[in-house]
Amino acid sequence: MSRDSLVFARNGVRTETGNVGPGEMLLDYLRLREGSKGTKEGCNEGDCGACTIALGSIKNGVLVYEPVNACIQLLGQIDGKDVITVDDLATGGKLHPVQQAMVDHHGSQCGYCTPGIVMSLFTLYHAGIKVDRAVVNDWLAGNLCRCTGYRPIADAALAAISGKARDGLSARMARTAKQLAGFDDGQDLMIGSAERFFAAPASIRSLARHCAKHPDATIVSGATDVGLWINKQLRDLPKIIHTGRASGFADITETKGVLRLGAGATYGDAFNSLGDIDPDIREVLRRLGSKQVRASGTIGGNIANGSPIGDSPPMLIALGAELELLHGAKKRLLALEKFYVEYGKQDRARGELVSAVHVPLLKRGQHFRAYKISKRFDQDISSVLAAFRITLAQGKVSEARLAFGGMAATPKRAVNTEKALLGIRVGDEAAALRAANQMEKDFKPLSDMRASATYRMQIAKNLLIKAVSELAGSPAGGTRVSGLRQLEKAR
Ligand code: FES
Ligand code: FES
Repeated sequence: MSRDSLVFARNGVRTETGNVGPGEMLLDYLRLREGSKGTKEGCNEGDCGACTIALGSIKNGVLVYEPVNACIQLLGQIDGKDVITVDDLATGGKLHPVQQAMVDHHGSQCGYCTPGIVMSLFTLYHAGIKVDRAVVNDWLAGNLCRCTGYRPIADAALAAISGKARDGLSARMARTAKQLAGFDDGQDLMIGSAERFFAAPASIRSLARHCAKHPDATIVSGATDVGLWINKQLRDLPKIIHTGRASGFADITETKGVLRLGAGATYGDAFNSLGDIDPDIREVLRRLGSKQVRASGTIGGNIANGSPIGDSPPMLIALGAELELLHGAKKRLLALEKFYVEYGKQDRARGELVSAVHVPLLKRGQHFRAYKISKRFDQDISSVLAAFRITLAQGKVSEARLAFGGMAATPKRAVNTEKALLGIRVGDEAAALRAANQMEKDFKPLSDMRASATYRMQIAKNLLIKAVSELAGSPAGGTRVSGLRQLEKAR
């Protein structure tokens, strides 16, 4: 059974259209077809947040609204969801509380970023969490304002978001939850022809079957990368298979010390499960993309696209993760590091689908460290991402898995350095330095706009020395930006 039209709620109103181009963006639909021009286009690549809208969906049985960049969201992705834009917030001539607070606190000058900021704050207003300045700053990391400055914007957020949500959306929450549950009809979505289509299968079996049947199709999860192929490289992608409707594809489970992340789980969905493995993972994830990017981008998509600078693959490789791949009905498991063959080439057959990643949790004696080095603290691409799992026995290194992003054409382990680290005592700085120098055998990094080869090599060595020093008892607060902030506060 399949359906050939998109069904979604537009600010709570059932909307249906069969007119969906495979590469059509939600932002274009809103501005050009609907005429809702309050939502702005800035960068058109998911960086500035001017196009932020609120996307409502049922997650674990609860209706949640997340901020999403409409410029890199395919129109087909909104099937079964509720779309709210800045044009929908004011009712009866009265501004929404977050809009009014932005006026009261002088939170806007040129106003170009303002619709996106208002929508991010609108989702925070409905998040039901305790809000302080740090939470607001994190929430707005994906909204760039270049003229007002963030202090008045954060003041507006703190003034408006202080208690229970009381607005038009809170009044219709239960009705919309029921409405969205009703949209979930279990049918595959197939819009278009055999040569040009947007497909969104409803089950994992059907998804795998579609991928095997159309090996030339582009498999899309969150579109945080594919959206740029369309907007920036102007690529025409005639056949799209979207993973987002396949029931169970985003499930996260834990069995016998192994976390299984369905490939469709977004970074937002997996944030706590991964962050609970180690605080360093939580810190890297907090700085991965933005709230908007994490609400759409998936773990499986980040792995499958083979980027040499993705933040999660080095951490998952260091943890010893395995990848699960599906080709039709055939399933196989593969050590994650073996998936990356060379730049732009992964061990994935045509029509094969990354379906899950299996992540072993840390065992007794295993210590984890991860460091993200980037020019900007928030929402930046890493120059180097280092992730280490080091096992200690009687104060000596008995096993080491050291993985890096940004040091080679793929995420890669430093196998020579791993060997050199074995047996050294964690307080022995000279031995750690000798081991770190083996990094020269492991990597020949490139120079690019993010960092020079010399800088990358030096930072990779330094990060290993820092990790070993932290394991020997140096307080992490003395070696971390966040820790330094805590020290400053205590002074
Ligand atoms: Fe900049 Fe969409 S326009 S994130
Ligand atoms: Fe001008 Fe934010 S008000 S960019």
